[in-house]
Amino acid sequence: MLNQGLKGVVAAETSISHIDGEKGQLIYRGYEAKDLTKSKSFEEVAFLLWFGHLPSAEELEKLNGQLIKNRYLTETMKQVMNHLPHNMEIMSVIRTVISAEGTTDYGWKPTVEQAIRLTALVPTIIAYWYNKINGKSASEPNDTYSHVENYLYMLNGTKPTKAQVDGLETYMILTVEHGMNASTFSARVTASTESDLVSSITTAIGTMKGPLHGGAPSGVIQLLEEIATPDNADKVIREKINNREKLMGFGHRVYKTHDPRAVALRETLLASKGEDEWLDLAVHVEDVAINVLNELKPGRALYTNVEFYAAAIMKSIDFDPDLFTPTFTASRMVGWTAHVLEQAENNTIYRPESVYVGEMVEVAEK
Ligand code: ACO
Repeated sequence: MLNQGLKGVVAAETSISHIDGEKGQLIYRGYEAKDLTKSKSFEEVAFLLWFGHLPSAEELEKLNGQLIKNRYLTETMKQVMNHLPHNMEIMSVIRTVISAEGTTDYGWKPTVEQAIRLTALVPTIIAYWYNKINGKSASEPNDTYSHVENYLYMLNGTKPTKAQVDGLETYMILTVEHGMNASTFSARVTASTESDLVSSITTAIGTMKGPLHGGAPSGVIQLLEEIATPDNADKVIREKINNREKLMGFGHRVYKTHDPRAVALRETLLASKGEDEWLDLAVHVEDVAINVLNELKPGRALYTNVEFYAAAIMKSIDFDPDLFTPTFTASRMVGWTAHVLEQAENNTIYRPESVYVGEMVEVAEK
């Protein structure tokens, strides 16, 4: 039987995460992701995904030290970036620089230490490149800051506020892992040939780069900018749906109720919100859109997805849209590497089949 895009095909058993689209649950190793955002740091969640349990104080201290130590770019990485064309997309830069890390140290089997190193490097690669192309001097990592705090610091050169760190950390925890999505699957396919972790991760980055996957929240920002004021919301939304346009930030292939990541991001944003017209507009647009979608598209169960409030988070920390997909990549490094480690534990090479629909042609005799 042919399953276009492997839709509905179960490709692996995993104990890393589970998505219940009917209940609107995203589970990481038995814990609801949205609950983890309330009391756990990015580092604690990364430990959970890599090691299968939440860290003790001692284990967390060790992981923090490893992440901090591995934040620094090698001279080779800087040289590579200094030679890349100025107009290269950041995703291609990350893919290239991670590739430059692929030395013989990364043989089969992959290790958690390698996973930690690659995860620690990505924010520094993004910040180094982003500062370089914007004519700013590079900020070296700050060893006293957490993973997320340091990422914001390296991009802006100043200590971020608590609200900025909380917003981005919630986003990064919620996007750290999401089952057998295209990039995670591609990482597992590469690992299944007993290739090295760097190769699996460069495969995944290349897959994430495509707009159908790493789709940035930019479309949501455009929608909110077009609506501009709350009293326009109903009119603009009706026009779009009547014109058969999709509302960006609404609907999901798997979630047929609220996307738990959107719910958690909304809670975080509202908890730390001061005067914020942009966020007020987003909340208003969500309410209006759900009502209008329910009226004009009855029975389709359309709600906000993670992209909707990710856009609000990105806007509140004043992130350039060019940084959206790279930031998603920085968080998803944890999920990818955890899956590669899991694949390596019980490996079978992926080798699906195809159906030949071409012609049969006789070779003419000489
Ligand atoms: N706005 C308006 N109508 C919608 C939307 C939307 N955002 N999403 C689905 N619908 C409607 C469709 O028009 C269709 O209606 P019909 O039955 O009258 O033809 C019905 O709901 C089912 O739509 P499908 O496209 O079949 O739903 P599917 O589950 O395949 O699509 C998808 C999911 C691709 C996410 C879709 O909802 C969409 O394009 N949303 C907008 C883009 C977006 O926000 N993408 C980010 C997703 S989250 C992520 O990737 C991390």
